[in-house]
Amino acid sequence: MTDERLMATGASPEEDPIERSLRPQLLADYIGQTTVKQQLSVYIQAAKKREEALDHVLLYGPPGLGKTTLALVIANELAVHIRTTSGPAIEKPGDLVALLNELQPGDVLFIDEIHRLPKIVEEMLYSAMEDFYIDIVVGQGPTAHPVHFPLPPFTLVGATTRAGMLSAPLRDRFGITEHMAYYTADELTAIVQRTAGIFDMRLQPESALALARRSRGTPRIANRLLKRVRDFAEVASAESISVALVDHALNQLQVDAKGLDQIDRKLLLMMIRDYDGGPVGLATIAANIGEETATIEEMYEPYLLQIGFLKRTPRGRMVTPAGFAHLDIPYLTKK
Ligand SMILES: Nc1ncnc2c1ncn2[C@@H]1O[C@H](COP(=O)(O)OP(=O)(O)OP(=O)(O)O)[C@@H](O)[C@H]1O
Ligand SMILES: [Mg+2]
Repeated sequence: MTDERLMATGASPEEDPIERSLRPQLLADYIGQTTVKQQLSVYIQAAKKREEALDHVLLYGPPGLGKTTLALVIANELAVHIRTTSGPAIEKPGDLVALLNELQPGDVLFIDEIHRLPKIVEEMLYSAMEDFYIDIVVGQGPTAHPVHFPLPPFTLVGATTRAGMLSAPLRDRFGITEHMAYYTADELTAIVQRTAGIFDMRLQPESALALARRSRGTPRIANRLLKRVRDFAEVASAESISVALVDHALNQLQVDAKGLDQIDRKLLLMMIRDYDGGPVGLATIAANIGEETATIEEMYEPYLLQIGFLKRTPRGRMVTPAGFAHLDIPYLTKK
């Protein structure tokens, strides 16, 4: 095993080198998700002591919270190779066989968007995960015969934004399940400072926090906004980045004080204007604002629920009084 593979740095070989440089490599550099890190650290140390493959790990939570990054960190901590793929990329059983065939004992197979695995592939994965073998049928027609294919012990790391969409048999085969939570403003501040260091940007003391507060609890958003702030600083020839510059840049990007973007506001406003704040069904919301239901469910709604601007009821989603207040619209209690 070569050093470069030992220190897996990217989600895929094609990943932008700048993106790659932003990913922490080890648990110690991975900011936030304290409980997840503490638990994984124990499991990883135990697996290494026993010289066994780590149990299969399922990481779930909203997009951009660091699931892919954590999968790479797990492989680095275990000092094993990682093979990266995604549910929709494994179209047929042969694709899975090819992936599994390349694994060495203890390696990590990372499957992103694991809820999108084709059923036939998922079913093959059951025996691979549980007893490290697969049975495949080779040949066609009268010459077709089953082949029993033993596998080295390996660790499957699965990531999903939709844990609810995993079938019970698949979910039950993960020995370790970790939920990724939104980051606190302090944690995001540390992430912004770390990224600024990598970019060689000079942030004034309060600037990192100002940006963190408007990043929807999400490192990917914090990093993306920081890049845009850097552009504004560049054009303004600013030596260091002040809070005023952060505010100016984010206002230009139409990111508001709570980190909501145009689509978040459009969604809330539509629900208030057209449906008195709800309840409104997800499909209706999607049709009205011209987004896919899955996009709303995975990207927009979780944060709006988290900050208490939306709530779920059996009859649909409702805008809360706090949501009305954020848009400066009086909340009229209904009969
Ligand atoms: N704990 C962290 N510390 C520092 N940077 C982080 C952390 N978590 C994520 N990041 C950064 O945030 C970005 C997004 O992380 P990542 O791609 O791992 O998210 P994800 O959960 O896999 O998202 P998706 O669900 O869309 O696949 C990356 O650029 C990564 O460097
Ligand atoms: Mg990812």
